Amino acid sequence: MPRIFSGIQPSGELHIGNYLGAVKNWVALQHEHPSFFCIVNYHAITQAFTPAELRRRTREMAVSLLASGLDPARCVVFVQSEVPEHTELAWLFNPLTPVGELERQVQYKEKSAKQEQVMAGILNYPILQAADILLYHADIVPVGEDQVQHLELSRVIARNFNARFSPDAPYFPEPQPRLTPTRRIVGLDGQAKMSKSIGNTIGLLETPEQMWDKLRPAVTDPSRQRKSDPGEPERCPVIYQLHRAFSPAPVVAEVEENCRGARWGCMDCKKVLHQHMAAELTPIRERAEALQARPAEVDALLADGAARARAVAKDTIAAVRGKMGLDAAH
Ligand code: AMP
Ligand code: TRP
Repeated sequence: MPRIFSGIQPSGELHIGNYLGAVKNWVALQHEHPSFFCIVNYHAITQAFTPAELRRRTREMAVSLLASGLDPARCVVFVQSEVPEHTELAWLFNPLTPVGELERQVQYKEKSAKQEQVMAGILNYPILQAADILLYHADIVPVGEDQVQHLELSRVIARNFNARFSPDAPYFPEPQPRLTPTRRIVGLDGQAKMSKSIGNTIGLLETPEQMWDKLRPAVTDPSRQRKSDPGEPERCPVIYQLHRAFSPAPVVAEVEENCRGARWGCMDCKKVLHQHMAAELTPIRERAEALQARPAEVDALLADGAARARAVAKDTIAAVRGKMGLDAAH
């Protein structure tokens, strides 16, 4: 049975790009596969952070994931730093990772370009990601499009390990990304990928009023200056994409017809979208509010998740140490 692993950084609010690109798919996959979902706080420390904020955001992310529908009875939800085997395996993978492969990662180039002094953490970031995945022998990694290159590197590391230390029978699988049709949600500016660092997001836990305040001014098809101008839904980067993600198929068909036929103005279309977004997201916000009021319960779920993750991670580390000759003291 193929195993699932995915991770998310606790580096801010969970936005609808994360939700549609990754987390919603996790919720579906937990019913079909053994699954591990990790809040990757070791990854988060490679960007600017303060300890108090990191601690708060880690708990907030746990609440958001549980509220989105991750069910600890069906999957393992845990915080990366509770399972120190992640950093151990990352170190063991260092001698198997070509620096050239790290340097050509698009995310590394983007992040390092913004920094005066580039620290090793952002270069080595994908080695830790490979360790996350391979520690659990995961075959399938449900992520958004921006992670595909990191997964290529995870496969290089798995192959290099197998070739060198497990030539007869591959020890690690070569993990594959699992993308969804919503693999790249565009931000409210209609330009870039939806991303916290750009500030073009809608937070998953925002109220319907807050969501409306953001949808109302969002850019639409530039050919529709007036309501009487016929539109092309495909050229409406934000609203049409979100309709396809949140509205039922017959509503999407209606949107297309009314846009092309200039029967609806963009505000009419946004109102229908808003209604369907609120229908899906309001129960998530309400569950999050309930969980926020019960922090001890969240702590207990995370502690249990870490214990279950660690039971698997320990066995992998023992096997890897053995294969690499790092078990001389036993
Ligand atoms: P991050 O917040 O960078 O840790 O991303 C968590 C997950 O959300 C990863 O699987 C990303 O690929 C995915 N993701 C982030 N932004 C978007 C977006 N705008 N559209 C689709 N998926 C996204
Ligand atoms: N790099 C991922 C991101 O920025 C987060 C992540 C860390 C991850 N480890 C992972 C995703 C393992 C999938 C599998 O979104």
